[in-house]
Amino acid sequence: MFGFEYYTPTKVYFGKGKENEVGTILSGYKARKVLLHYGSRSAVKTGLLGRIKKSLDAAGIAYVELGGVVPNPHLSKVYEGIELGKAEGVDFILAVGGGSVIDSAKAIAYGLAEPDKDVWDLFAHTRNAEACLPLASVLTIAAAGSETSNSCVITKADTADKRAYDDDLSRPKFAIMNPELTMTLPDYQTESGCVDIMMHTMERYFTQGGNMELTDEIAEGLLRTVIKNAQILHTDPENYEARAEIMWSGSLAHNGLTGCGNDGGDFMSHMLEHEMGGMFDVTHGAGLAAVWPSWARYVYRECLPRFVRYAVKVMGVEPGATDEETALKGIEAMEDFYHSIAMPVNMRELGIAPTEEQILEMARRCAVTVGGVKGSAKKLNEEDMAAIYRMAL
Ligand code: NZQ
Ligand code: ZN
Repeated sequence: MFGFEYYTPTKVYFGKGKENEVGTILSGYKARKVLLHYGSRSAVKTGLLGRIKKSLDAAGIAYVELGGVVPNPHLSKVYEGIELGKAEGVDFILAVGGGSVIDSAKAIAYGLAEPDKDVWDLFAHTRNAEACLPLASVLTIAAAGSETSNSCVITKADTADKRAYDDDLSRPKFAIMNPELTMTLPDYQTESGCVDIMMHTMERYFTQGGNMELTDEIAEGLLRTVIKNAQILHTDPENYEARAEIMWSGSLAHNGLTGCGNDGGDFMSHMLEHEMGGMFDVTHGAGLAAVWPSWARYVYRECLPRFVRYAVKVMGVEPGATDEETALKGIEAMEDFYHSIAMPVNMRELGIAPTEEQILEMARRCAVTVGGVKGSAKKLNEEDMAAIYRMAL
């Protein structure tokens, strides 16, 4: 087992109706003026925002609002939030939404804590953050895991740069998770979310070395749980128990738990998808489903024991005559699973058709972002990245 640090300070309030306690909870954090940050429509339309405001009013907590965060959240909205926060003297940020809103809130929190510096520097990796305003979320979609993660992903729309910055400073103070709030999601978002949740653990699973008996068992249990409950939600979207299992899996999949003892993880499927998100604005989880099978077929020989174990213990396939056959059966079973929840397994099914020039550009950007070479299952360079994009067409 490799050495590791495990830090997960986010307090979780889980269950029906928990969002109505948000005012009382925020009082405990001595919040005086809160920035209520949310997305395009759903938080207002479902009445959730109204209930949150009522709870803040009852607790005597002042707030200002900034909605309009889009999926693959934009830097321009972050700057707007920083300006508003400065003008209003905001001291706490409450994200009401999913990964996009929470990430936008994290970026605003970084920006407000160091108001004289450009927050994009963090995403360009030209400096590290020294401070971050406290933030928390009322989660409305189980997917990104940003509610407990140290990660923040922002898109600079004019240059199509989608970039991540990871820092424990941005770990949210608390996350309110009521699985019922996810019942208004379009099926496509629920299903994309399930793919993303699994992928956060798979990125930590398909690695080289490391004896991680407990971590592997936790990871495999989580993955089987998501597969089972994603299929339940595909036909029964109002199933509370399935929504609850998925929501809790989403947080544990990306708070670090399923990577304890590994070599840092692979994360190349994510890096490849981020370029697709930046260039084509695809839904993150669906983009991952479209690229993972090609990544897996490209790398599995270099990481055969993990692919065999995955095939048998997660996908439940009968071992084949050789390890290679078993691994490939596992990848096929994964594609069958994606199809069973109406997720794509390649870019055509995702609805995009990058040209050779666009593939080369995505590969170039991806290689620059990862510093040339990245991956654990197999180290990938720019040529490998382009080859995987081509396979995924
Ligand atoms: O804007 P609204 O109207 O709220 O609509 C949203 C949005 O269109 C909708 N939605 C959310 N909750 C809803 C709802 N619609 C109806 N009812 C509800 N209860 O769902 C759509 C997607 O929302 P979004 O926040 O974009 O989803 P997700 O949580 O998948 O976040 C995706 C973003 O997170 C990043 C992704 O790259 C992407 O930008 N990620 C962040 C990570 C992190 N910070 O740790 C890790 C991930 O790997 C990921 O990269
Ligand atoms: Zn993800």
